Amino acid sequence: MAEIEKKPIKIVETVLRDAHQSLIATRMTTDEMLPIIDKMDKVGYHAVECWGGATFDASLRFLKEDPWDRLRKLRDGFKNTKLQMLFRGQNILGYRPYADDVVEYFVQKSIANGIDIIRIFDCLNDLRNLQTAVKASNKEGGHAQVALSYTLGDAYTLDYWKDTAKRIEDMGADSLCIKDMAGLLVPYEATRLVTALKEATNLPVELHTHYTSGVGGMTYLKAVEAGVDIIDTAMSPFAMGTSQPATEVMAETFRGTPYDPGFDQNLLGEIADYFRPIEEHALETGLLNPKVMGVNIKTLMYQVPGGMLSNLVSQLKEQGASDKYYEVLAEVPRVRKDFGEPPLVTPSSQIVGTQAVLNVITGERYKMITKESRALLKGEYGQTVKPVNPEVQKLAIGDEEPITCRPADLLEPELDKLEAEMAQWKEQDEDVLSYALFPQVATEFFKYRAAQKNKIDPTKGDNKNGAYPV
Ligand code: CO
Repeated sequence: MAEIEKKPIKIVETVLRDAHQSLIATRMTTDEMLPIIDKMDKVGYHAVECWGGATFDASLRFLKEDPWDRLRKLRDGFKNTKLQMLFRGQNILGYRPYADDVVEYFVQKSIANGIDIIRIFDCLNDLRNLQTAVKASNKEGGHAQVALSYTLGDAYTLDYWKDTAKRIEDMGADSLCIKDMAGLLVPYEATRLVTALKEATNLPVELHTHYTSGVGGMTYLKAVEAGVDIIDTAMSPFAMGTSQPATEVMAETFRGTPYDPGFDQNLLGEIADYFRPIEEHALETGLLNPKVMGVNIKTLMYQVPGGMLSNLVSQLKEQGASDKYYEVLAEVPRVRKDFGEPPLVTPSSQIVGTQAVLNVITGERYKMITKESRALLKGEYGQTVKPVNPEVQKLAIGDEEPITCRPADLLEPELDKLEAEMAQWKEQDEDVLSYALFPQVATEFFKYRAAQKNKIDPTKGDNKNGAYPV
């Protein structure tokens, strides 16, 4: 070991984003985050992932918080640590494709409010859906990281991943991420994949996995030995289960080796002590279900993300067809094949899962086809890795012409229209972006915000103790 050149592993902390999104439905509040960020800032993390994904939606919808305000507060607190966000390509943080002007403006404002690194992915790995966000990030001086949505299947050979990685490098990305959202990447496969990607590109490679199937820590070990540059971990109170491997465990794993990140275990201990009561409270209130903390080996058996399995269970229950669970599980890979074998991640996981349920409970495959299935088969989400089944496509769209161009090329600029719709609520430039993503939820939030303001207006005599900020 002594002869090996030192190559400290870089670590991205996810406790402020993916960890609580995976375990407690993204309900950690800004007030719960702020008291500890001073200490987190001293750890030496490569970055802290703290924004994007579902945090934006959950802040507005459930916590009645302005996500932009959270970002600015985190930026103020983290003086030495880069801030990272997750971005769904042309869908931004929402569930539909947006016109380029909205994507560009969102990237601009994210960086202006404090984001350093934007991790951009597409559920079909159609790189055309990423190019606007990557270009905007380059232009604004941000770090554009492009993520491969990792999955298994005939189409997903090492050559496929290498070729995609090269194209990502060519499109101007600053780094590459293997986004293993379902925990499907097993340790020795990580060796092969990381080795192949390091051969294919000069980009730094990051690995993001979830502990769902129980192999996450071992996968990181093999990936680091194979030369991966960065791994994503979560502080232990919000680690493992459907979240990431634990930060303290990975730091200790590499102690005294060339990969030692050099973290102070006492400092990590203090940070864990801070988050533990938040975890315990979430367990007490039922927000944290102990079930998600275990190992779900079915994830590996059926190659279906854990979250998708629980969705299938509840969909079948609603239909009074719980006995059809295994039939549906067998139908999922068939539908996925018909749909061009996409990775199963939001929104493709919901589309494939719902269609599989329909195929089973109606007793006839594609007797009913959802609107989303139709859109996917028509090419509205972009190009699938393998061609879709032409017979199923015909059933879904008849003689309509499938879309083969970049889907956003068909969208007119929409920022001005959105501005006009929400003008009465606007208090900051960023409000139009909140509205663009979640029109109803944002409007509800704007109303709440306005009402709060009136309530705490000192002239109305309701702020005697000065308890509320004005
Ligand atoms: Co994740």
